[in-house]
Amino acid sequence: MLKIVKLHIDFMNCPMGIAAYPQIGWTLDSDKTNVCQQAYRLQISNDSSFEELLYDSDWVETDQSAYHRPTAYPLKSANFYFVRVCVKDNYGEASVWSDKASFLTGLVEEAWSSPFITAESEEDAALSKGTYVRYDFTVEKNVVSAVFFSTALGLYHSYVNGKKIGSDEMAPGWTTYKKRLLYQTNDITTEIKRGKNTLGAHLGAGWYKGLIGLSKKRNLYGDRTAFSAQLLITFDDGTQETIRTNEQWEGSDSPVLFSEIYDGEIYDGRLEQPGWNTPDFPDDRLNGWKKVTTVKYPSHQVFAQPGSHVKVIDTIPVKELITTPEGDKVLDFGQNMAGRIEFKVTGRPGDRVQLHCFEVLDAHGNVYIENLRDAKQTITFYCGKEQETYHPNFTYQGFRYAKICAYPGEILEENFVAQSMHSEMEPTGHFECSNEDLNQLQHNIVWGLKSNFLDVPTDCPQRDERLGWTGDAQIFCRTATYNMNTHQFFSKWLKDLVADQTPEGGVTHVVPDIITGISDDNWLLKQGTHSAAAWADAAVINPWTLYLTFGDLGIVREQYASMKAWIDFMTLHSTNNIWNYQLQFGDWVALDAQEGSYFGATPNDLTCTAYYAYSTLLFAKMAKALGNHEDHAQYTTLYERIVATFIATFFDQEGNLTAQTQTAHVIALYFKLTPKKWIEKTADRLVKLIDRENGHLVTGFVGTPYICHALSQNGKIKEAYELLLKDDLPSWLYQVKMGATTIWEHWDGMKPDGTMWSAGMNSFNHYAYGAIGEWLYRVVAGIEIDEETPGYKHCLIKPLVGGNLNRVKGAYNSVYGTVSSEWTYNGTEYELTVEIPVNTTGTIYLEQASEVICKNAIDAVKEDKGYRVHLGSGIHHLQFSV
Ligand code: BGC
Repeated sequence: MLKIVKLHIDFMNCPMGIAAYPQIGWTLDSDKTNVCQQAYRLQISNDSSFEELLYDSDWVETDQSAYHRPTAYPLKSANFYFVRVCVKDNYGEASVWSDKASFLTGLVEEAWSSPFITAESEEDAALSKGTYVRYDFTVEKNVVSAVFFSTALGLYHSYVNGKKIGSDEMAPGWTTYKKRLLYQTNDITTEIKRGKNTLGAHLGAGWYKGLIGLSKKRNLYGDRTAFSAQLLITFDDGTQETIRTNEQWEGSDSPVLFSEIYDGEIYDGRLEQPGWNTPDFPDDRLNGWKKVTTVKYPSHQVFAQPGSHVKVIDTIPVKELITTPEGDKVLDFGQNMAGRIEFKVTGRPGDRVQLHCFEVLDAHGNVYIENLRDAKQTITFYCGKEQETYHPNFTYQGFRYAKICAYPGEILEENFVAQSMHSEMEPTGHFECSNEDLNQLQHNIVWGLKSNFLDVPTDCPQRDERLGWTGDAQIFCRTATYNMNTHQFFSKWLKDLVADQTPEGGVTHVVPDIITGISDDNWLLKQGTHSAAAWADAAVINPWTLYLTFGDLGIVREQYASMKAWIDFMTLHSTNNIWNYQLQFGDWVALDAQEGSYFGATPNDLTCTAYYAYSTLLFAKMAKALGNHEDHAQYTTLYERIVATFIATFFDQEGNLTAQTQTAHVIALYFKLTPKKWIEKTADRLVKLIDRENGHLVTGFVGTPYICHALSQNGKIKEAYELLLKDDLPSWLYQVKMGATTIWEHWDGMKPDGTMWSAGMNSFNHYAYGAIGEWLYRVVAGIEIDEETPGYKHCLIKPLVGGNLNRVKGAYNSVYGTVSSEWTYNGTEYELTVEIPVNTTGTIYLEQASEVICKNAIDAVKEDKGYRVHLGSGIHHLQFSV
């Protein structure tokens, strides 16, 4: 039976806050094989019963089941749209109508128009306290719809009649506030009643006003928190009314005495004002409440946030309550994460609970907080009444453990729970195999992602940093995008990357950029705050990765000028095609660095020029995909010139790379900068350089993501697996053996004896080295994208077996449905099961196979190396021997 499994809208499920005509797509399922869509019919309606049709495509003959962007219907603000589709396939079968999907629009035609109101005064500039704002209003007619748009300078939670609106945390998220601020859209129709109603908001300092960044400065964007909202109510007589923030709202301090991203929160429950956000709040409240004032913020800089909202995602109980050798009581949640702790407490007013969150225990099993640097990560709560349940409001911690510094009464594990928080993204990938250490590595990669995709892709969630380092986000992008649907998350961040780009097209080291102009006292950043190879290349590589994964040309169009400007920046600052510029991080934290240095041994000229070539090539490919033939030709020529210069400069006459580092060999191979005749030699040399380290890698941020690819793509499959499976220092599995639950910043973050790398920079939750994850999906499971037909319309299944694995399963939930590849080995032959989604095709390449046995009239074609099998949709089984 042919059916529609899911509709996606702008690659999301039922988004709220759509401000332009969205792209619509669907995934199909059928019990037949080789199924293609022949035609579809798409309807969009104002009502969920599809009686008031706004759009009907009628039957359209095409196999296209994604990227439909109908525009022949009116798109109005604050309106629910319902979408359904039915399809016909190549067997003549027609589906029934799909389940309906919906989207809620934000502000479509109009710009933001509500004032920003604050309960703070100028004297509060140095404080990071919480404030309340509230407003009563009366509704005299029956409500048919009420859509609430809200945002803040700072962080906020909003309320209607005492109830929290939506489930966002850390809203409105972190953007380049100087140019962009996002508002959230919520449907609160069922909450607004006839009679008196109350809107309220609780505000905190957040990234906007609190201390943030390496320069230890506060008020980077402003010195007063402020709230802005508009509630659009539609009545049953068709009339509408908008309630806005204005100077009639009242404001007061809240029980949050202090709350900041790094340092945690102090909350005094004795200062609570029960009912402050309800219509029943008594009139004598005026005690301490005063009229708010307004703060200026350019309304044209306020944009909708349609998805990827930060939320509480997992609830994790205490694994163990420990008493350390030093006598500290410590909660162990068994998982390093970003989030917060919620606890229950019974006490007298003024009794104190204090928790200090941290990541690891030291060699003796005691609390280790030195690597948090100046981040206090401390939660202090004063009881206001006898029974309390509390979690912090405007902060998050990076932690696995919490030291209980104070708690009245008996400490019971069941009174504490960790709540992991990150941007909401649909999990899309699955990888598991017969090696439990690799499964733990995969787990750690996913948790590195979950801990650091908190509105911005951060380097780490715990120390006084947590910044959107572009390099980290670039090298991990492909891995992240296998594991979760990052489309919205990265699209949003890339807009900030553009907003921060220098007039010449330079790309800042961190996005949002909070280092330019204030880093003169930083030993490193005073040398430059933008345009480092591998970091700035996020401008091209991240859109490229989204384009490959989702097949979305929209993102390419959106980022096109920015990508081009970045390539042109490199051209402008290059000399005879060799590019280098100001501060470079090079092969950051590679182990071939000189003693005490963070900079790996691979020369910057080489790393910079290699990335210059790679980004130029990707940009030329995207120009072609958009049909921009002139740019394609121009940048292909540039690319060829850079490659020729790279070869002439960094290889000697005999074909040896002048830099004898692993990373130099890795990028020369992976970026295809090695002449054909020298590929074998370069790959052999890479193996020797690994052998020289007793089979270990010593690569940093630049070499690590690609080292296994550079080996496996060039005939060194055995060596790639050996590297992956090493489990002594330095290696991926060393961390696993040491009990890691996330990925570490340094290979040797914790030594075998439990002693630590220097506390100055030693995160145990840094996703960068988790970039090996893409090798697990692309090579071990073999789920690979076909660049010619991105988005998995035609996919490649290219598993490379090895590593003593006898069972591997990888799956990716693409825009067309699940692509999966599972292989098992019984000691003599391999069994492969592949799933190809309806309306797509795939080609299996078994490069190692000496024989292939197919069933069901599928042919294996002998290739120069191994076999090729072409497949239509369905689940297919075959056997092969190597
Ligand atoms: C961060 C890295 C980042 C680097 C830049 C560090 O402090 O934690 O992950 O990319 O600085 O070199």
